Amino acid sequence: MRLAVIPGDGIGVDVTAEALKVLRAVEEGFGRRFDIEMLPWSADHFLKTGETIPANGYAMLREFDAIFIGALGDPRVADNRHARDILLGTRFELDLYVNYRPVKLLHERLCPLKNRSIADVNFVVFRENTEGLYVGIGGRFKAGTVDEVAIQEEMNTYKGVHRIVKHAFDFAHSTGRTRVCMADKSNAMTDGHALWQRVFAELKSQYPQIEARHLYIDALALLMIQDPSQFDVIVTNNLFGDIITDLGAALQGGLGLAASGNLHPGRTSMFEPVHGSAPPLAGKNVANPMGAILSAALMLEYLGLAKEAAAIEAAVRGAVVAGQGTKEIGGALGTRETGDYIARTIQEL
Ligand code: IPM
Ligand code: MN
Repeated sequence: MRLAVIPGDGIGVDVTAEALKVLRAVEEGFGRRFDIEMLPWSADHFLKTGETIPANGYAMLREFDAIFIGALGDPRVADNRHARDILLGTRFELDLYVNYRPVKLLHERLCPLKNRSIADVNFVVFRENTEGLYVGIGGRFKAGTVDEVAIQEEMNTYKGVHRIVKHAFDFAHSTGRTRVCMADKSNAMTDGHALWQRVFAELKSQYPQIEARHLYIDALALLMIQDPSQFDVIVTNNLFGDIITDLGAALQGGLGLAASGNLHPGRTSMFEPVHGSAPPLAGKNVANPMGAILSAALMLEYLGLAKEAAAIEAAVRGAVVAGQGTKEIGGALGTRETGDYIARTIQEL
């Protein structure tokens, strides 16, 4: 299998090294072979060459079986142009319309809520990934003056809303989950989100065996904290999905543990931890590599290697339970030692 790997910036580089270590352990343990191509696209690369992503970059990426990304973002690139081209650009150009973000508590001590068991925090968020407020439609008039007008439009299309909501229902149907909750803000955004209402009504009638529920996004945020056990599959738009998946990461023990996939089912897809590049922590051997390692597991699962993916998840869970991790989850290990521990567990399995 041919994999493109973009470590990116900051701690993206640190955690990607550990994800690769774990992929090597899978190669040895399961007799697989991953043909890995490292791509240097990052803030450093941009500052050195003026190039964010090469002209044929997206076409290049399409040739791989999957893409793994560490993190992007660097204070030296004030407008974050490279991150926009590399991360958001790939989401748009490869039409990766499903942002798949599982929220799964691996050990109860990691949950910031009182008296919650691992069964209470186990849901999946599907974030629309190619439309909404992220499309960059808008502009500024009289910028920099007291008369400045700033407009950023939210784009919702029937096709775009339909395919993500349908994906959520199909996922629930094929994985034995029974509840789908669609969250929007149709009480205030009466045009854009009326479309979400229409599509949801159409689709829910096609999946009578699945319990379909609607919540306004603000109420969903409240209920995620009051009682996360009521959620199974959540589907929402690009910006709301961005926000509630950070909230979800908090429920599972922090951003260091959260994994994601940017998918176009059947096509080359991209996997990345949910956390950012955390420049002050870069190179210090302190970042938690588990989110990156779990993202590598999602990648293998997507590529049809279910056993290998399950082994990685079990190894991460084992490390969490044994307290063998970084400081912020109660361990005493560094980034590299956490990766070593997980890689060793996989070889032993
Ligand atoms: C994420 C990130 C990105 C997003 C940023 C870096 C543009 O927060 O993947 O959740 O908002 O999509
Ligand atoms: Mn985010």
